[in-house]
Amino acid sequence: MIRLKETVDFLMEKEMIGEVGIILGTGLGALIEEVEIEKEIVYDEIPHFPISTVESHHGKLIKGRIGGKTALIMQGRFHYYEGYTLEQITFPVRVMHLLGIKNLLISNAAGAVNLSYKKGDLMLLDDHINFLPGNPLIGKNYDELGPRFPDMSMPYDEGLNKRMETAAKKLDIPLQKGVYLVQSGPTLETRAEYRMMRNMGADAVGMSTVPECIVANHMGLPVAAISVITDIGDPDNLKPVSLEEILVVAKEAEKKMTRLFKEVIATI
Ligand code: HPA
Repeated sequence: MIRLKETVDFLMEKEMIGEVGIILGTGLGALIEEVEIEKEIVYDEIPHFPISTVESHHGKLIKGRIGGKTALIMQGRFHYYEGYTLEQITFPVRVMHLLGIKNLLISNAAGAVNLSYKKGDLMLLDDHINFLPGNPLIGKNYDELGPRFPDMSMPYDEGLNKRMETAAKKLDIPLQKGVYLVQSGPTLETRAEYRMMRNMGADAVGMSTVPECIVANHMGLPVAAISVITDIGDPDNLKPVSLEEILVVAKEAEKKMTRLFKEVIATI
């Protein structure tokens, strides 16, 4: 909590405040091109912020205008497979909420478990399965942030999700809606794991988003998240996938995602 206050004070002094928070996933940084940037700070200059290690991530906190709102944008996020604790991964979400954000939008790259999905599809998260070996809220509860046993009956905000669906219709962007399963990574799934995930009720699988969503729910911060489907996890016809291929698909599909985020931000 003391660390949180130090970080928030540091960023407040630099006027890093905003109405909406955005966390951009792997290969999904182009939304920044639509932002009128007012300020940016690299993570290593922010006290107590983890530093992102994956090369495809930039690692900056950006303040800027998009869709008529002031946004705080994390360009580059933290993953469990990089060796961070779940508390470190979610620290920036707590910071952004204390800096004023009232809604959080998240993007990620994910593999399809639902075989009706195609590469490049967007999926709105309706629910999730936490398959990480832990939960960011384990340990002492910070009562000033939220309750000991947060409700998770609607982890992705109903109102924000409605706005996402309305915006997608208006922009003529096809939008799937499904269950996201998070696994630790860094390995992708085996055929048997894809089969199991489908049986568990997942539609897509990835390595992020759920910790941030849990911490946001703890604080009563509404969240919506979009998965960009970068590869298909068909257990009976599984092809090897590389990060390069994932990035190519993400790069193409992020144009739709960016338009969608911008439209939703304009309505909140
Ligand atoms: N699993 C499978 N495919 C993926 C993932 C994942 O975690 N992330 C992006 N594509």
